[in-house]
Amino acid sequence: MFTKKQMLITCALPYANGSIHLGHLLEHIQADIWVRYNRMSGHEVYFICADDAHGTPVMLKAKKLNIKPEKIISKIYNEHILDFKNFHIIHDNYHSTNSMENFFFVKLIFNNLKKKNFIKKKIIKQLYDSKYNIFLPDRFIKGECPNCKSIDQYGDHCENCGTTYSSILLKNPISVLSKTKPILCNSEHYFFDLPQFYGFLKSWINSDVLDYNIKNKIQEWFFLGLKQWDITRDGPYFGFKIPKTINKYFYVWLDAPIGYISTFKNLCDKNPKLNFYQWWKKESNTKLYHFIGKDIIYFHSLFWPAILEGINFRKPTKLFVHGHLTLNGYKMSKSKGNFITAQKWLKFSDSDSLRYYYASKLSSHINDIDLNINDFVFKINSDIVNKIVNLASRNAYFINNYFSNNLSENINFLLYLKFIKKSEIIHDYFFKRKYSHVIKQIIILSDIANSYIDKYKPWLLINNDKQKVQNICSMGINMFRVIITYLKPIMPVLSKKTESFLNYKLCFQNIKKPLIDHKINKFKLLFSRIDIKNIKNIIK
Ligand code: MSP
Ligand code: ZN
Repeated sequence: MFTKKQMLITCALPYANGSIHLGHLLEHIQADIWVRYNRMSGHEVYFICADDAHGTPVMLKAKKLNIKPEKIISKIYNEHILDFKNFHIIHDNYHSTNSMENFFFVKLIFNNLKKKNFIKKKIIKQLYDSKYNIFLPDRFIKGECPNCKSIDQYGDHCENCGTTYSSILLKNPISVLSKTKPILCNSEHYFFDLPQFYGFLKSWINSDVLDYNIKNKIQEWFFLGLKQWDITRDGPYFGFKIPKTINKYFYVWLDAPIGYISTFKNLCDKNPKLNFYQWWKKESNTKLYHFIGKDIIYFHSLFWPAILEGINFRKPTKLFVHGHLTLNGYKMSKSKGNFITAQKWLKFSDSDSLRYYYASKLSSHINDIDLNINDFVFKINSDIVNKIVNLASRNAYFINNYFSNNLSENINFLLYLKFIKKSEIIHDYFFKRKYSHVIKQIIILSDIANSYIDKYKPWLLINNDKQKVQNICSMGINMFRVIITYLKPIMPVLSKKTESFLNYKLCFQNIKKPLIDHKINKFKLLFSRIDIKNIKNIIK
């Protein structure tokens, strides 16, 4: 029996110091497909995200341009909104962490945690850049790894040996900003007392919230021991000032996940049907799913649930972690010239193709995913153009030209049943986010459909058995319709065009009933072949 779920789905909040790129899109497309799939399945789904506006990089950028950080984040905000729209990623609300709702919740949560003795004060030593007059965040310090001695490592972890450490342990540190040697200074900071949550976290992690391989990684962190987490930054800083302090701010990573709560609150304020408390109270029956990249597991699997437990809120139902995107086998990087923003992609190709390609590679594991341009062109042309859209055009030709656009009353019901039967396994793959398996099934069906048409050769039959041609081509159109219904969460543009061509709204519920004695429209180009010459220059 169908049980309607209430689902809140989030993507990690993109930083407001740069453009949306193909890596972000891997996450948002993956989530958007799941949102559309669950909506089509009849669940009540809310999909939210926001810009992660605070932190040192935005502050430094503003300083360099001699403008207010607010100006930068508002420009980037509009850009991000447009980028997502252009890729048909349909957040119900896209907010910002630099909002009044977020400040409200950050203060509320901080005070609540403090009252319960989960916040501790400590004086710590930190590296200070006396030329720039700021305490240096880890990413702005480089030096030798205290473990393997590898040079040129950042202040928080070593890319060579994987060790994480405190920046004051780096040998020969240097400020990335001023290239001078930083000095050690004392400063009083607030810490979130993570070790108090050891028992809770251990059982939460083992409660089916994470896939198996990620669970193992987290066990390592438990083994190393949980540490108190510094949630303060000294000014100058772009963030929320901590009340009753002189120059202290909340660390961006404290207010960022709280952005999930405040973005939802902002949505509730716009939608009277939504009851904020019902979604966030401890014993809520609603579901909360976070899509995140593998680089931010620590924040989402330890700090975030511990904070929620500390304030007596509900915890995430699942964390869906994905690997990183590589481009023709390489990590994307601005300096290497292979950094592709959402906007740049659209100058060379379209959004549905990228969505299809990502889907064809995505599964529920955390392996990195490679976008290989030659493979991309081959796959789109072979699967979408030659197999799927061609199925529509070759059959529509006869229905449009010989049968006044009418589908017959007679189709091959046995074969149709075969197509419908696939829905069980396809639903299972969609739900488990094994989209590459969904695509494999879709291609199997397209091959069956095209072989069926090849076998009956309507182009030969048309001269002696017209009725048979109408039946065969109507069956062809019906198989196409089932295929595009399965593809609908993945390719929204193609499905929309197909709906106008078929004169019919594609949905899972009606799929069992074939389209018979139904008028379709004149076939128009649904999808264009990609020319490798046009796209290969996307990477210099
Ligand atoms: N602002 C934080 C997230 C805060 S969530 C409370 C952040 N921002 S980010 O812009 O760096 O990344 C946002 C999401 O995009 C993360 O889940 C990250 O893993 C993902 N990706 C960023 N680059 C990526 C790739 N190259 N490939 C795949 N995903 C990547 O982290
Ligand atoms: Zn090292």
